[in-house]
Amino acid sequence: MLKGSKVALRARHEEDIPILHAELHDDVVTASRAVGRPWRPIAPDSKESQFVVDDTAQGRVAFSVVELDGGTLVGTATLWGIDDHNRSAHIGLGLLPSARGKGYGSNVVAVLCHYGFVVRGLRRLQIETLADNTAMLRSAERNGFVREGVLRSSAWVMGEFLDEVLLGLLVQEWKREGSRSS
Ligand SMILES: CC(C)(COP(=O)(O)OP(=O)(O)OC[C@H]1O[C@@H](n2cnc3c(N)ncnc32)[C@H](O)[C@@H]1OP(=O)(O)O)[C@@H](O)C(=O)NCCC(=O)NCCS
Repeated sequence: MLKGSKVALRARHEEDIPILHAELHDDVVTASRAVGRPWRPIAPDSKESQFVVDDTAQGRVAFSVVELDGGTLVGTATLWGIDDHNRSAHIGLGLLPSARGKGYGSNVVAVLCHYGFVVRGLRRLQIETLADNTAMLRSAERNGFVREGVLRSSAWVMGEFLDEVLLGLLVQEWKREGSRSS
């Protein structure tokens, strides 16, 4: 398990899937903003659910996020697009509505940085998020990510094109704090 100051990242348990599905996928607006694909109804027990983990997929590692105290499920976190040649990867996360705005998002990013840089030996982590997603932008910047560019009108979201911001963090810029393995 990977621990931060507020949250821990552990393996996906089967009983997490219906909760993540109901609170994240079935919220059409949040899912459309986060996923970058057209929303469609998917049954929670479907193999197509984005929360079903394929342990054989080498380029993607999915975690469930739990509260450090008590272990309540609060969301999902992913290191994806893992490129062992260029030693880079992307970060993604989504918290249940009741868990947002408590500093968990910033701490999840800290723990994913620990996983990417320390456990996996990567050199560069990247985040793409909608330009109006202030909470995601701040969660990234709090961990040292810098804005590297704006992808203009790159995301079709619920009837309009929105800009995305690309943020990056290099291992030598990273300040190791707020996370540990145990
Ligand atoms: C984006 C998300 C992961 C951020 O996590 P969070 O726990 O809500 O964020 P935090 O509480 O750690 O706050 C991080 C910063 O954002 C600010 N913030 C939080 N919610 C905010 C909001 N609704 N509006 C503006 N700022 C906000 C906080 O004040 C904090 O700023 P600071 O670092 O200057 O103090 C979470 O809100 C979420 O899951 N949203 C829905 C899914 C999503 O957008 N995922 C990302 C897709 S790329």
